Amino acid sequence: MSSTWTIDSWRTRPAAQQPEYDDPEALRAALAKLSRLPPVVTSWEVEKLKRQLALVARGESFLLQGGDCSERFADCRSDLIDSKLKILLKMSLVLVHAGGRQVVRVGRMAGQYAKPRSSPTETRDGVTLPSYRGDLVNRPEFDAEARRPNPDNLLEGYARSAMTINFVRSLLAGGFGDVHHPEVWDLSFADGAEGSEEYRRLVDRMGEAVRFLETMVGRRLDELGLVEFFTSHEGLHLEYETAVSELPPLRRRWYNLGTHFPWIGDRTRAIDGAHVEYFRGIANPIGVKVGPTMEPDELLELIRVLDPEGEPGRLTLIHRMGVDRIEERLPPLVEAVRRAGRTVVWCADPMHGNTYKTADGIKTRRFDDILGEIDRAFDIHEALGSRLGGIHVEMTGEDVTEVVGGARGLDEADLHRAYRTDVDPRLNHEQALELAFRVARRLRRRAQGG
Ligand code: PEP
Ligand code: CO
Repeated sequence: MSSTWTIDSWRTRPAAQQPEYDDPEALRAALAKLSRLPPVVTSWEVEKLKRQLALVARGESFLLQGGDCSERFADCRSDLIDSKLKILLKMSLVLVHAGGRQVVRVGRMAGQYAKPRSSPTETRDGVTLPSYRGDLVNRPEFDAEARRPNPDNLLEGYARSAMTINFVRSLLAGGFGDVHHPEVWDLSFADGAEGSEEYRRLVDRMGEAVRFLETMVGRRLDELGLVEFFTSHEGLHLEYETAVSELPPLRRRWYNLGTHFPWIGDRTRAIDGAHVEYFRGIANPIGVKVGPTMEPDELLELIRVLDPEGEPGRLTLIHRMGVDRIEERLPPLVEAVRRAGRTVVWCADPMHGNTYKTADGIKTRRFDDILGEIDRAFDIHEALGSRLGGIHVEMTGEDVTEVVGGARGLDEADLHRAYRTDVDPRLNHEQALELAFRVARRLRRRAQGG
């Protein structure tokens, strides 16, 4: 892996999970157009995030990464972007207050348009078509035209990423008044459930803190422009990621400027594969999903390739083992990284190892499994002298019913009511907030040294 890196060197390696386009000329034309468009983020924002992740790695901050499993082009709508940003900000306020530390906010947002699939094709009633790979590639309807990988979607996806981040920036610049005023938070979903009094007290204390601060500085908190937000997506479609990468003037390294924080999925992290080759050369902070098949030696090799210099904030390991396997699979990895003296951000994705199908064939997750995996992750890191630095969740600001459980007590029958995802089930806004309260418990305990 010591050969020279170029922006195209990944082409010499096997690239998993790439769509096959039937018109190479149309693909080339779309990519050429894409590479001439201005970036959606800047290299200094990317470097700023890396500095903030370095603080996470040192235990001085906590990472909150969340959003849809897959964004749909049709979801590029003001109300949906607004509600997703709001719930992420609320969650982060809860975590800041409980942990007494800053929180780095990263959305799975503004570019999370490409999905890995277990099979390249799907067969229904004897008809076989390409699998749906996310709106960046094709559409989910089961007909030949919808499933044909269409190069124009690459441009459409980039445009929607830009529109999304543009609106996010405006919302943040204009202040998000309500979110900073916890008295407007609706906590009724938790009434009567375990924890509801604790949640109310936490929100009351947050309200006092906000009012105190505003009185001190004589301005509303949301006018101070303090809230930063970054974007992330799985860097799956290598032609796309390459086309949105640049060598900015005055920089010596290439940057992916289609997002702040791209990550490598669990299915594409092969050490000799094209994804690892592309990622090793870009300067962004990067994530790698770490599933239950990862072995300690393999992980150390991956760290050596992706972060040879041990650059602060460069590498986030996002483990997603499943509640039943984390106690067996995570400790050897944490131990190996500690023994090798490597500093990384450890982040828990409690979603992807906990998916199951109901008897009616609906893909869902249990809220208790999600919480359980996070709790075990905190315990394992603490026991090994390591530190859980963040959480990575699939969630939405909407009132969907895709995950069972939570204070509202959603059960499998409720899944039929508002199940909207085409891919993985997401926490709804109440479940997401409840999750934040539960993680807050752990952060408070940690802040108190217990
Ligand atoms: C995802 O994050 O949506 C995903 C596909 O995860 P993983 O790579 O961990 O399977
Ligand atoms: Co997913």
